[in-house]
Amino acid sequence: MDNKQQIADVLSQALGDNILSNIDILNKIEVPKTSDLGDLAFPTFMLAKVMRKAPQQIATDLVEKIDKNNFEKVVAMGPYVNFFLNKEKVGAQILTDILTQQANYGTNNDGENGNVTIDMSSPNIAKPMSMGHLRSTVIGNALANIFSKNGYNPIKINHLGDWGTQFGKLMVAYKLWGSEEEVKKDPINTLVKYYIRFHEEAKENLALDDEGRAWFKKLEDGDQEATKLWKWFRDESLKEFLTIYDELEINFDSFNGEAFYNDKMDQVVKMLTEKGLLVESQGAQIVNLEKYNLPVAMIKRTDGATLYMTRDLAAAMYRKNEYNFVKNLYVVGGEQREHFQQMKAIFKEASYDWADDIEHIPFGLITVNGKKLSTRSGRIILLQDVLDDAIRLAREQIETKNPDLANKENVAKQVGIGAVVFHDLKNERVNSFDFALEEVVRFEGDTGPYVQYSHARAQSILRKAGNPDLTTTNLVISDASAWDTIKILGDFPNIVRRALRDREPSVIAKYALNLSRAYNKYYANSRILAEDNELLARLGLVKAVAIVLTESLRMLGVHAPNEM
Ligand code: ARG
Repeated sequence: MDNKQQIADVLSQALGDNILSNIDILNKIEVPKTSDLGDLAFPTFMLAKVMRKAPQQIATDLVEKIDKNNFEKVVAMGPYVNFFLNKEKVGAQILTDILTQQANYGTNNDGENGNVTIDMSSPNIAKPMSMGHLRSTVIGNALANIFSKNGYNPIKINHLGDWGTQFGKLMVAYKLWGSEEEVKKDPINTLVKYYIRFHEEAKENLALDDEGRAWFKKLEDGDQEATKLWKWFRDESLKEFLTIYDELEINFDSFNGEAFYNDKMDQVVKMLTEKGLLVESQGAQIVNLEKYNLPVAMIKRTDGATLYMTRDLAAAMYRKNEYNFVKNLYVVGGEQREHFQQMKAIFKEASYDWADDIEHIPFGLITVNGKKLSTRSGRIILLQDVLDDAIRLAREQIETKNPDLANKENVAKQVGIGAVVFHDLKNERVNSFDFALEEVVRFEGDTGPYVQYSHARAQSILRKAGNPDLTTTNLVISDASAWDTIKILGDFPNIVRRALRDREPSVIAKYALNLSRAYNKYYANSRILAEDNELLARLGLVKAVAIVLTESLRMLGVHAPNEM
């Protein structure tokens, strides 16, 4: 059981009813600054008023009453009650919990199976998937796993950028300079080439932009030729995206992109009109958001065409209807912060009670060698290339470290891709970070391969010991140097909750690094396989580490190979 909870329970009992709820007690329990003050402490200040006693006195009285059975000692230190856990007893309990619950260790049902829609990845068709979209994909996927671990039901939605004036422009470009064969050979690169040429020529030829807009209008009106071209561009793009999703082993519950909402725009306009929010301004339809300190949101252009915002409004309404979400998340770069603020404000203005359940989950930029990436300038890093390079670097290291490994290619893939994913997730998501592949794929340091390697080493010990059945083992370990690792293992259920609360996969990644470091230190300083009467208990610890590392990596979307 969770130590904090155990302490909250004995405190509840000692305090009696009506003074503080179990949850309130739980939230007050702290970790002391240094371990000579115990493992956990409970401050009594806030009880002074209700109990009409000095905090010091309350602490002393509490220590008298508390059931001290499961602790090494419980002492009053000034206004604090300090708890020293019975390391052997608590430790054995933590290990037993992990070995019996296995992958379910740390799982809770806080979410009560509520639906959470997660708008993630959402690349734009006819363009390569960028590093930014990779971030959205892996952060969204990890969040989905974290929500699920906390008892929610995540729904992963790929809101493909498959609609908008840029497709009108692309059609104009294709009709002017394109060839079917060329596109078929290398779809996305070719389409990007047309798109770049369009922008270059549009600088001289101002009519091109108008033509692009006209073609998009045609598409919105269901024109046959426009629709056919659009479908073709979309299919070809999706094919390439799917190879990347396959490689990352990430799947989606829906690929309803922007185009899906084309026939749902009228409802948005109708709703906004009925609520009296739509205003005409120079021929366009807008919503005023001055009250929210935000710029006006354009809903319909002068020519009647809808916008990114209009489609997002339709999508949110559709998602509420379809999934009745308890949370509606958007994993999208920080540069779109204002867009999501506007969207939320519009639903608030329209008095939808679920407006507050809309959450933008922003993240920072990835730069490569200090440079920002953009499609229009042609400075694009192809995601596929990054993944291929990572796999190559992983293969090289495996080749030197473990040349006889079976399944080398598969492991190289799990390590290379895992390294890229882990690197993305280990930093708090709002931070920008630079990407130097050699660092990312190293087997030492704060990397994914380091965590994977720690896990593989644990598995190798278990193999050496003949993978004994440990379910009925007495898991008491008297060696104090095991305590650090066990304590971290016991913290996992809290970590799962914290990652959810902060919407931060990095909480899990940092935890996995901590656990790996503690375990490797233990491993270096003790003879795990020594034939004494605690051998099986130590193997139980090793197995628990393997289970929790595997589960942490799984939540991040990273494999934990048994050998590497
Ligand atoms: N396709 C957009 C882009 O690449 C991201 C879409 C995010 N999702 C949304 N519902 N707006 O910038």
